[in-house]
Parts: sequence; structure tokens; C-alpha cells
Amino acid sequence: MKNAYILAILFAFAVLSVQAQKSNWEVPADKAERLSPATFTPENVKSGETIYNANCVSCHGNPGQKNFVPLNPEPGDPADAKFSMNLDGELLYKIQEGRGAMPSFKATLSTSQVWDVIAFIRTFHKDYAQEVAAEVIRSGLSGGKVAIQLVYNEAKHTIDALVTEVKPEEVKAISGADVKLFAKRYFGEAAIDEVKATNNDGKVSFSAPSDLPGDTAGNIELILKLVDEEAFGEVAQSAVLPVGKPTITHSLIEKRAMWGTVQKAPLWILFMYSGGVLAAWSVIFFIFFQLRQIYMAGKKDEETGVVREEI
Ligand code: HEC
Repeated sequence: MKNAYILAILFAFAVLSVQAQKSNWEVPADKAERLSPATFTPENVKSGETIYNANCVSCHGNPGQKNFVPLNPEPGDPADAKFSMNLDGELLYKIQEGRGAMPSFKATLSTSQVWDVIAFIRTFHKDYAQEVAAEVIRSGLSGGKVAIQLVYNEAKHTIDALVTEVKPEEVKAISGADVKLFAKRYFGEAAIDEVKATNNDGKVSFSAPSDLPGDTAGNIELILKLVDEEAFGEVAQSAVLPVGKPTITHSLIEKRAMWGTVQKAPLWILFMYSGGVLAAWSVIFFIFFQLRQIYMAGKKDEETGVVREEI
């Protein structure tokens, strides 16, 4: 009986570990298609190698030597098909997001540093040919100003943005720029969705949340920010769009309540108060009445000549 238990547990572990190994690491389509904004250069590769040796070699080992740490699921050798099968965007996503034992490098490495690591890893993939995102401003702006348009697409229930660089003589789409969308709340700003990158036309689309409370008309102030402050500076654009649920706020003093005006005070308070005032005045009147009775009695005695002994 005991053996059967142990067998069952071992079996469960075996199934779990096989599943862990099998489970595909799915990358959302729009992320998978992301391309590096610039062609990888020998400088990128060199910088990538340094970053790899500082951050990745401890688990993934030296590329091509299969000396990665035997974790489950295994990290794998960056020179192997496990890595080369990935699109550039998939590598970027996996390195930035992490999963299980694979840490997220979103906070430690900038997007361009991760592209450098990818440039380094790609040097081990023989059949790799790089595809670059079309027309991108990598090192920020080329003399113009960022312009952002925010619109609400009611049919698709998305918030669409167009990010362009405006120069006196031309307007150019800014592609491959990370942007983040926020909704303005009473206290601070709430992020909607995660960071997304503009496509080749400088466009990016966020699915509008359906449960966000807006004002009475459902309006919400939205703010789109460019993440890469180094390249673009602090750029943000806000727009008030009808993406929220209309909220009808009820006045707190609409009904009779303790904190209402006299007209809106609870009836019991009015009764208690009037009763109290009435009682107080009754006592005062009663006392006056009694004093008058005593005075009248004294006067009567005087008239009739009755002399009362003092007690
Ligand atoms: C603490 C150990 C560890 C470190 C450090 C680490 N990784 Fe990983 N990595 C893993 C593990 C474990 C997996 C497998 C995760 C899975 O499949 O769930 C993985 C998976 C990956 C994958 C996905 C491969 C695939 O299945 O398509 C990539 C890409 C990757 N790592 C790149 C990197 C890079 C680049 C660095 C350094 C910047 C790095 N890793 C640092 C442990 C690590």
C-alpha cells in the first residue's frame, strides 16, 4: 500500500516534469513580430557579449558548449535550435518577461541592451538573416518634435495611437518605440495594458478596458507616454475619450441623513430636538407658574390679615 503511494507520487512528478518540459513558451503575436530598430553591428555584438557574460552565462553556459545549468525546464544552449527557432521578437519578449527559473530582465536591461544580447546570440545561428524594422528613429529624434494622436475606435473598442515626428518639412512615423497607456484616476495614473511598440506606420493599438468607470458621459482622461526617455525625452499626450462606463454619482445629502441640512435631517432627530426644546420651555414655564402661585398666596394672606408663624 505504502509503495503504491510512493509510486503514484513519483508518477505524478514524472508527468509534471514532462509537461513542464513540453509546454511551449507562447509569445503574443504582436510581440513576436517585433524587429530590432537597427541592423546589428559588431559593436552591438560586442556589447551583447559583455551583457551575456554578466547576466546569462551563469545559467545558459557558453554558447555552443552545452554547459548550461541542468534546471527543469532546462535553460538550453543559446547556439541550439531551441534558441535559433525563435523570431527576434520572441527572444526579446522571453528575455524581457522571463518565465519560471528564467528571470525577467525588463528592469535590469534596457530594450537596446537586450537587442545587443540578441545580436550576440544570433552570431551562433548560421541560417539567421536579420530583418530590420523599417524607418526607425533609434537614437531619438532627428530634429523634430514628437506628436501623438489618441483616438477611440468604438467598433473595435480599442484606443489607437499614432506617434510621429513632426519637422517643419515633413511628418515621419516613429516606429518601434515603446509606449505605455495610462488612465488618469483620482490618485495618480493606472496603467492600461502593458508596454507596446509602435508598428512601421507609427501606430499602436490598446484594447480598451470595459470596466473602467468614467464620468457621467463615460469619459476618461488617457495618457500615452513614450517609455524611452533617453531617446525621446519625457513625452506624454493626454486625451479625454469616451472609453469608460458612465458613472452617475449620487449626492450624499440627497436623502435624509445625519449630515444633511435641517430640511434633510432624519425625522427622529427633528422629533428629539423639538421634544427637548419643548420640555425645557415647559419646565421654565412651570417654575414661573409656581412662583406666581406663591406670590398670589402671599398677597391673599396680606389682604385677609392672616399671620403665619415662621417654621
Ligand atoms: C537563473 C538562471 C537563468 C539566467 C540568469 C538566465 N536564464 Fe534564460 N532561461 C533559464 C531557464 C530555466 C529557461 C527555460 C525557461 C522555460 O522554458 O520555462 C530559460 C530560457 C531562456 C530563453 C528561451 C529559450 C526558448 O525556449 O525559446 C531565452 C531566449 C533566454 N533564456 C535568454 C536568456 C538571456 C539572454 C539571459 C541573460 C540576459 C538569460 N536567459 C539568463 C534560466 C536562466
